[in-house]
Amino acid sequence: MARTPSKFAFTLIILLSLDFAHGFYRSLSPEKMGLKKEKLSHLHFYLHDIVSGSNPTAIRVAAAPTTNSSATSFGFVAMMDDPLTEGPEPNSTLVGKAQGFYGSASQNEYGLLMVLNFVFMEGKYNGSTLSVLGRNKPYSKVREMPIVGGSGLFRFARGYAQAQNHLFNLTTGDAIVQYNVYVLHY
Ligand SMILES: *[C@@H]1O[C@H](CO)[C@@H](O)[C@H](O)[C@H]1NC(C)=O
Ligand SMILES: *[C@@H]1O[C@H](CO)[C@@H](O)[C@H](O)[C@H]1NC(C)=O
Ligand SMILES: *[C@@H]1O[C@H](CO)[C@@H](O)[C@H](O)[C@H]1NC(C)=O
Ligand SMILES: *[C@@H]1O[C@H](CO)[C@@H](O)[C@H](O)[C@H]1NC(C)=O
Repeated sequence: MARTPSKFAFTLIILLSLDFAHGFYRSLSPEKMGLKKEKLSHLHFYLHDIVSGSNPTAIRVAAAPTTNSSATSFGFVAMMDDPLTEGPEPNSTLVGKAQGFYGSASQNEYGLLMVLNFVFMEGKYNGSTLSVLGRNKPYSKVREMPIVGGSGLFRFARGYAQAQNHLFNLTTGDAIVQYNVYVLHY
């Protein structure tokens, strides 16, 4: 006996096609996407920005002809793949990476444009990311940068990150930066 599609399957096909019957968009209830209650998470980790030695985690990729004569290195751009660890020691548990770039975007005082993703690799957030787009004044005690989105468990994320130097080596330029991230997500 030949199998015929069930009534259920037909209904489903009709419903799916009706969803987009009026074009390329539709409204959807948050519940349908499994979005129930927004929650607030606090993440705490240390970022290791190593610019010296034979294995730097942040490298200069671009500069303007005038960058070296600028007091703020205006025009300088570095790409980073900085380890994020649970504690401040370099051999502390790796929880993720900060991948992206920063560039000197200010002519009058030292101010960096930060464009990066926190890529988490540990615990329940393994595989999830948070995206940062903000301004970083590295010589201020506490710098705040917006969290503009996320993926995986951080879908629909928004919040802010606060960065504070734990250790800054003036000789090498290497830095260990403490991050406190407050993020709303589902
Ligand atoms: C600027 O300085 C860097 C080293 O700090 C050097 O590699 C680069 O060639 C210099 N650029 C110019 C245009 O002088
Ligand atoms: C990390 O390095 C310190 C020395 O810098 C050492 O005392 C400690 O045992 C190391 N910890 C681990 C887990 O390897
Ligand atoms: C994180 O996820 C990747 C890919 O699923 C997996 O290979 C890795 O072992 C996980 N890491 C940890 C620490 O669970
Ligand atoms: C800075 O780095 C240099 C070279 O690795 C090292 O000799 C010095 O002890 C470091 N200073 C601090 C404060 O960590």
